[in-house]
Amino acid sequence: MQKEVVVSGIRPTGFLHLGNYFGAMRNYVRMQDEFECYFFVANWHSLTTHPDTKELQNSVYRVIAENIACGLDPDKVALYVQSDIPEIAELYLYLNMLAYKGELEKTVTFKEKARAQPDNINAGLLTYPVLQAADIIIQRAVKVPVGKDQEQHLEMARNLAERFNYRYGDILPLPHAFNYGDELIKIMGLDGLGKMSKSENQQSTIYLADDNDAIRKKIMKAKTDQGPATPNSEKPDYIQNLFTLMKLVSNAEAVAKFEFDFNASSTGNCAIRYGDMKKQLAEDMVQFIAPIREKANAILGDKELLHKLMKQGADKGRSRAAETLKMVRNAVGLNY
Ligand code: TYM
Repeated sequence: MQKEVVVSGIRPTGFLHLGNYFGAMRNYVRMQDEFECYFFVANWHSLTTHPDTKELQNSVYRVIAENIACGLDPDKVALYVQSDIPEIAELYLYLNMLAYKGELEKTVTFKEKARAQPDNINAGLLTYPVLQAADIIIQRAVKVPVGKDQEQHLEMARNLAERFNYRYGDILPLPHAFNYGDELIKIMGLDGLGKMSKSENQQSTIYLADDNDAIRKKIMKAKTDQGPATPNSEKPDYIQNLFTLMKLVSNAEAVAKFEFDFNASSTGNCAIRYGDMKKQLAEDMVQFIAPIREKANAILGDKELLHKLMKQGADKGRSRAAETLKMVRNAVGLNY
């Protein structure tokens, strides 16, 4: 039976963090055995914010290395850099004709970026979701493992595929956001304010490249409170976030102990000791991240290997992309 096709991408705008891991990369690693997978570094998308291009180059290598260090096998999946697949750019052009200014202006990420960089509201920023749709549609993907923040972009990709099919003939499958649990995931910063992020909120974000001391310091500073005043209270989201992280990296007994303590806290006599919880979480996080960091550094030191893997990924990625583009050109009537 034909395997379902999966696509997902990560922007190389900085160091990868636990949000990227938990929201996306953990699923990539699980999906590589079950599906036909295409994972890539979205370097064109990064240009919308005018980064330093030298840093951008280093980040591209890092994203590739960290993906492999997290368990992606470049022989099982196609792991490539977006700009190595020029077919995406041509599809982006056709999809741009189907995307309307009004809907693009209403996108939450566009509004946020326009607020953050009022002097650089470029057309690439406005059509960012169209490029993302082209990334997905070029491989005719149906499943797209992403975190919660990408939900709206996925809806737009689906709309654009539908619109294309309506206008030119039913040739494109419709993509959906995917997570193994029911819900898409959002990992908050440890200060309880925004989400963990590559470029903002750095003291409250745990990066896969952080050293052991940095991990310990950040977790010990995580926001907590006095504890619940009544038994079986609902957890505030910054406390829930600590439990979520603990479930990711600690063993089941540790999670169960702190869950029990949280629920046993009653009438102001809080049984849970957040200091102990954070110590446990910090040590388990160190154990979790150290091997990823070390493996990523080893790969990063071997540029020859990286280039070989990037070329291999681009060849795999281009082969299906070229097939799609041919179908698209035929459907649009560009076959003279
Ligand atoms: P990016 O680079 O911001 O993030 C990469 C992936 O990590 C997820 N993620 C999070 N998940 C949970 N909690 C967080 N705090 C958190 N922060 C990031 C994101 O949801 C994403 O899955 N536009 C995309 C890149 C992209 C793409 C694509 C994705 C370009 N083309 C095609 C899928 C398919 C982005 O900026 O992701």
